[in-house]
Amino acid sequence: MNAEEAVEFITKAYTELTKDAAELQNRIDVVRGEIAQTGTYTHTLEELTIGAKMAWRNSNRCVGRLFWDRIQVVDARAAGTVSEIRDALFEHIRKATNGGQIRPFITIFKPGSDGPRIWNHQLIRYAGYASENGDIIGDPASVSFTEVCEGLGWRGAHTEFDILPLVIQESADAKPTVIEIPSELVLEVPIAHPDFPQVAELGLRWYAVPIISEMKLEIGGITYQAAPFNGWYMETEIGARNFADEGRYNKLAAVAEKLGLNTKRLDSLWKDRALVELNVAVLDSYHKAKVQIVDHHTAARQFGQFETNEQAAGREVTGEWAWLIPPVSPATTHMFHQRYPNKIVKPNFFYQDAPFERTEITPVKRGGCPFH
Ligand code: ARG
Repeated sequence: MNAEEAVEFITKAYTELTKDAAELQNRIDVVRGEIAQTGTYTHTLEELTIGAKMAWRNSNRCVGRLFWDRIQVVDARAAGTVSEIRDALFEHIRKATNGGQIRPFITIFKPGSDGPRIWNHQLIRYAGYASENGDIIGDPASVSFTEVCEGLGWRGAHTEFDILPLVIQESADAKPTVIEIPSELVLEVPIAHPDFPQVAELGLRWYAVPIISEMKLEIGGITYQAAPFNGWYMETEIGARNFADEGRYNKLAAVAEKLGLNTKRLDSLWKDRALVELNVAVLDSYHKAKVQIVDHHTAARQFGQFETNEQAAGREVTGEWAWLIPPVSPATTHMFHQRYPNKIVKPNFFYQDAPFERTEITPVKRGGCPFH
């Protein structure tokens, strides 16, 4: 590897950690020596910790970055066998869930292309099954991964909300192992509406903690292919996307029907009204279940505080506008009326090729004029 990326990271990190010039220089010499000798270097726990935090801080799509400094970093680099990796993942789920008082966590496994891979998009997610006639049971976003799981011998119950198993590959040439998550580890919330009890009849539910497990973490030239991380949900992710997108659970018409809205006319704005009430239902259900969640107005304010903090620290706030604005009432937030430079600063999280073949129907391409 190129020592310059390492040196750049060490310099940034040690400066933020207010270490003195001698310690910085000493570490740079050691890292350069290690790279010259072995081709790579090993992060100290302190470097791993600040690196993961910086990666969150630099995540342009994330509106929840105010809390970047409060993520708990678990060093799982020594986990080599499938059962050690499994135990670390179960522990992540348990500690992050924390009975509903969700704590941001990241568990970092062995770096390099021979490190482990977790095949799941999120540690906890619902299966999706496509039938011959094109109908889908469950989450359409999970269809190809669910096929992979079934190809590996797993059988789901074929309900709308089957928790997928973990699929763990302990090294590049190892076969993947399928592991069911013990149900007592998975906290879920049944969705009801405080004012319209009929909404509960839809039988909707969602899990408490989104733990992204498919992205790689890059710190100072070192790549961690398996570094699952979590925060807590913002309600629109569930109410305005997972339940509402036509390519996901597609429940707006069903909600509108429960609310008695006129779905015959688009200009009754039934979609918008159903969307808002669905988001009210998600927030109220998580609150009643004592599972931490944030609404998009509060999240926007928190992002504003993050911007203020970053300016005070002399750092530019990078961001991806289309992701920072919420999908419900975007113009009510300050982000809508602002622009953010979508510059990639490292450390950061990046997408990587899925370790299995994706057969998903490609989602509609966004942007771009159809005539050009
Ligand atoms: N949007 C994804 C979902 O609905 C989760 C992405 C991460 N979200 C978060 N709040 N940390 O499952």
